[in-house]
Amino acid sequence: SQVVLPKDPSLPPVVFHYIPWFGSAAYYGMDPYKFMFECRDKYGDVFTFILLGRRMTVALGPKGNNLSLGGKSTHVSAEDAYTHLTTPVFGKGVVYDCPNDMLMQQKKFIKHGLTTEALQSYAELMVKEARAFFANNLKVTKASGPVKIDALHTMADLVVLSASRTLQGKEVRDSMSTHFAKLLEDLDKGFTPLNFMFPNLPLPSYRRRDRAQKEMSDFYLSIMEKRRTGEHDHEHDMISALQGSVYRNGVPLTDRDIAHMMIAILMAGQHTSSATSSWFLLHLAHNPELADKLYAEQVEHFGNPDGTFRDMTFEETKTLPLMDACIRETLRLHAPIHSIYRLVKQDIAVPPSLSAPSESQTYVIPKGHFIVAAPGVSQMDPKIWDNSTEWNPARWFEDGGVAKTANEQYQAGEKVDYGFGVVSKGTESPYQPFGAGRHRCVGEQFAYLQLTVLVAEIIRTYKLKLVADEFPKTNYQTMIVLPLDPYITIERR
Ligand code: HEM
Repeated sequence: SQVVLPKDPSLPPVVFHYIPWFGSAAYYGMDPYKFMFECRDKYGDVFTFILLGRRMTVALGPKGNNLSLGGKSTHVSAEDAYTHLTTPVFGKGVVYDCPNDMLMQQKKFIKHGLTTEALQSYAELMVKEARAFFANNLKVTKASGPVKIDALHTMADLVVLSASRTLQGKEVRDSMSTHFAKLLEDLDKGFTPLNFMFPNLPLPSYRRRDRAQKEMSDFYLSIMEKRRTGEHDHEHDMISALQGSVYRNGVPLTDRDIAHMMIAILMAGQHTSSATSSWFLLHLAHNPELADKLYAEQVEHFGNPDGTFRDMTFEETKTLPLMDACIRETLRLHAPIHSIYRLVKQDIAVPPSLSAPSESQTYVIPKGHFIVAAPGVSQMDPKIWDNSTEWNPARWFEDGGVAKTANEQYQAGEKVDYGFGVVSKGTESPYQPFGAGRHRCVGEQFAYLQLTVLVAEIIRTYKLKLVADEFPKTNYQTMIVLPLDPYITIERR
């Protein structure tokens, strides 16, 4: 999609800053969306800001997103942007520590593991995990009355338990209450904006990260070895799905590759899904009417005459219009990933429709810059959405709205086979919480299943209420966009 370079290219405008190397780090780091919307007003859709010595060129709007997410792998590189952050955490040889073509094949192996049969078995296991968690950890009874909980921590626990019981396998789930949780915590502390900006600091947290990575990787190896020699009930987890995968050139995935892919999957799904589900709960707690409607949807589809509920199947999770709209709307307002980075490998000419000042001038984003996509900006753009900052799930099924069109484009959009299954390309869509193009998420279906099952179990069991009067603010200081002070009370229905 790149056009021929103009003869006299000019660089995008640079955002004004006082301190040369530091640049706009503080403003961008505190509130990236406020920063980007303000810069858009001043400089247009394409501008460069300085971030601790790096030149970050933001390209906004659906066309801007397309420039990096739809860019050719010879022009923009995810591995060069991310490997120093991710390789110490996931381990070597996979994801961004290998050529892009290998990542595409790894994604295909993952996608093949997420069969309908596997997802169906996951739906059942997730329900069981949720109910056990309510009984053992939440302990909210009619007699106890409302109980205050931290929605983010609660959902993080539920997400990791249900993901480990399903994708990660029984052995990981069984050790979650012992050493595995500690390893995960140490890995997490090595997956922060600090690690992104400074890959090698002589800090204890970096050493703990490295130790945890090695131990976790060895743990997966021991699981695979035990399964080979001993008895093992066949389950649909990702370890068994990946075993036996062979690259196109005939080279098989090694146990070590699988171990590192399992860590990558764990990290990719954990914070994204716990952030999304906790934002979802906070909105429900803030909108009791909507929570009642969501409850009514559960009663309508799954209610038994005696007031209990039957379990939902994987297929049935896809037939709930309000649940679906709530998840879609939560991801619109709270995309877990606010900035997607690529390193520019070859100069990129910005199409004239994106570069601002005069018709005759176009910009070039030069090799060596990072190009930044921020789908969240178009997802909250008041020029695109009515009442853009309002959480209003109904917009997804009302007739004629932008959301409906975006949804239709999203669902039916141009289909492209990237080698890991056919995905909707949608690189120019105003709605891309799961990214777009070759690096698009392969976990969307799993995430929808998990969010649906977990939130349905909660809403069937509890009434929610926000603790503070005001809706929680946002913490942009972590890799994933999280709610601050995410407290709610839950009361047994
Ligand atoms: C990629 C979002 C859950 C596995 C991505 C990307 C986004 C994203 C925006 C693109 C990153 C980029 O272009 O640099 C989300 C959200 C989730 C979620 C919002 C939940 C609400 C999951 C889960 C898994 C997963 C549960 C694992 C089962 C992956 C993988 C990639 C990816 C393997 C590919 C990375 C690449 O090709 O560079 N995700 N994700 N994600 N995600 Fe997810």
